[in-house]
Amino acid sequence: MADYYISCMADYKLEAAKAALKLIAPYQYIGLGAGSTIAYLVQALAADNQLAASLTVTSSSFKTNQLLLSHGLKVQVPALIDKLDWYFDGCDQFDAELNALKSGGGIHTTEKILASVASNFVLLGDDAKRVPTLTNAYPLVIEILPQALQIVLRELHDLYPSAKIAQRMSTQKDGALISDNGNMLVDVYFAEMPSPGVLNTQIKMIPGVVDHSLFYQIANKAIIAGESGVREVLP
Ligand code: 5RP
Repeated sequence: MADYYISCMADYKLEAAKAALKLIAPYQYIGLGAGSTIAYLVQALAADNQLAASLTVTSSSFKTNQLLLSHGLKVQVPALIDKLDWYFDGCDQFDAELNALKSGGGIHTTEKILASVASNFVLLGDDAKRVPTLTNAYPLVIEILPQALQIVLRELHDLYPSAKIAQRMSTQKDGALISDNGNMLVDVYFAEMPSPGVLNTQIKMIPGVVDHSLFYQIANKAIIAGESGVREVLP
């Protein structure tokens, strides 16, 4: 599985991951998200045995945890983490203020918890992730308590009448896709992307919403790689 995961990646993401590795000091607490860039970071980390053995590493992602374990790294569960020196994660898109749209994987709630306890939340990826303002190319993913599903769907339809709203269904069985936390996941495809600040508040205010996949004013750095090399971007 690990080989398949790695083979899907582009080299710019490897460059960004290598730059991220240089930020990590021995004995630090490190959080990792999901995706191909993070898989590169795990690979790079695993190659530095001494550094890796000194770290406390946690992840929001089952796949990343499996990758960490397959490389012989020790993993701490998020429930035992109340501070991190660094949280590294990929994203689908980020804007000039480092607001990021994330998580086709539906694991944004734990990602956001880890990002929020980190002294530094760093977005990693290739140049293609950087946009002047967030677009509607990706859906907003919303994690919802099962008992609030219908109420939240109605609220979403009222707030965004022109959006396409789709509950995630399982491809393995006849039923809803259940999140890692036992909740429902809904994708909202906007006809036009709302302003991130307004969107963040509107969705969070709906009772029954656990969290959504817009990371509003949380990241404090991005490392991106492209034709012109590796760059750090600040908000
Ligand atoms: C996880 C994410 C991923 O980081 C995102 O899908 C992009 O990952 P990749 O590094 O493969 O481009 O948002 O929640």
